[in-house]
Amino acid sequence: MMDRRQFTGALAGVFAGAVLPRGPFVARQLPDAAGINAARLNAHLKELSAFGANPQGGVSRVAYSDFDRAGRAYVMDLMRAAHLDVQIDFAGNIFGRRGGTDSTLKPIVFGSHIDSVPEGGNYDGDVGSLAAIEVAQSLAEQSVRTRHPLEVVVWQNEEGGLYGSRAVSGQLTAAELSNKAWSGKTIEEGIAFLGGNPSRLAEARRQRGDIATYLELHIEQGGNLERERLNIGVVEGIVGIKQWEVTVTGIQNHAGTTPMDQRHDALLSAAKFIEMLNRVVRGEPGRQVGTVGRVQAFPGAPNVIPGRAVCSLELRDLDASKIDRLYDTIGAEARKIGDADGTTFEYRSLHENVPAPSDPAIRDLIETSAKSLGLTTRHMPSGAGHDAQAMAQLGPMGMIFIPSIGGISHSPKEYSTPEDCARGAAVLMGALLLADKR
Ligand code: GLV
Ligand code: MN
Ligand code: MN
Repeated sequence: MMDRRQFTGALAGVFAGAVLPRGPFVARQLPDAAGINAARLNAHLKELSAFGANPQGGVSRVAYSDFDRAGRAYVMDLMRAAHLDVQIDFAGNIFGRRGGTDSTLKPIVFGSHIDSVPEGGNYDGDVGSLAAIEVAQSLAEQSVRTRHPLEVVVWQNEEGGLYGSRAVSGQLTAAELSNKAWSGKTIEEGIAFLGGNPSRLAEARRQRGDIATYLELHIEQGGNLERERLNIGVVEGIVGIKQWEVTVTGIQNHAGTTPMDQRHDALLSAAKFIEMLNRVVRGEPGRQVGTVGRVQAFPGAPNVIPGRAVCSLELRDLDASKIDRLYDTIGAEARKIGDADGTTFEYRSLHENVPAPSDPAIRDLIETSAKSLGLTTRHMPSGAGHDAQAMAQLGPMGMIFIPSIGGISHSPKEYSTPEDCARGAAVLMGALLLADKR
């Protein structure tokens, strides 16, 4: 049996002189020698994509749907095959555990999510989840024991707002349990549906210091790595995200008999709101973004002036105070729209993901792991939210990105090459073994 130090040494040795070929290369040249089985990982990705497959070629596996539950059952089988001890926590997250040689150490936790957005793709979350299982399976097959206990995690309902990971970090509020998920179930119903126990959520919570290291591999979901022909992104930090439900109230009336200058059209005010928000967010320098991704008009008939419109509002930035400032400006501007139109705006907070820097020491480990594999890297922020930002509340966190072809994500067209998925998994394994030395 190889111990961890020999294995890490072997990893470095294999790649010291063997820079991976650039550009396309075939499966037999994938970084299997780093200890992961590239073909198996990619086969698992393909198998998982059958759960909730949509006609456009991606998946619609929203949290708490039957497809979500079936996909999770598939993933739990993979975990068992990887010799992990599998449990669902009270928050509905899946944990696969493996002991370390030093029982006094806190676990290294690594994984991602397998739920998707409606009409999502086959890589967001799936790559990180299946790569984590692949790492665990490869370690078992190669009889590599780590000092730290290992926990492979598949978080529940990442896409709806990091519900599973925020339950563990203690950021999930009781009021959020009644939020409706895309499946139609509330968060509370969804947790029970997945095998968690919403009345015992507090017991899923962990404290700062309970995690030795958290690692997550993910697709970039933007086009930087591909454009710059780089293999690996080392994430510097993850943006904060705040979402609200905005209700615009006007007066419902007959669309044929109400003159144009006597209307209090809630949908028209919502349209002005969308235009205004875009103007406010673009009105200052920086990487902040703001989006209305959903609008509904009520009662929703061609011959009725909408009396009520409900839309979403989302703001993101690495700086939480900037999000708050933009929100205040948007609120003040919306009041002006309401005054002019005879409508009102009300806001209900849906959830918040706080911005999270990654740990500089973990970034170094990822960089070292990538370099030992002959891979090129760059450091970059994440504009997408990730469970890693909740885990950053509990301990040192690091994230690894691989290229997204065309920078497309949250779409059935999302794609990362099998080679890049394998490279990412190999970097994850190397970073984990380096983290195990700390
Ligand atoms: C999660 O994918 C998000 O950034 O919304
Ligand atoms: Mn994701
Ligand atoms: Mn996503």
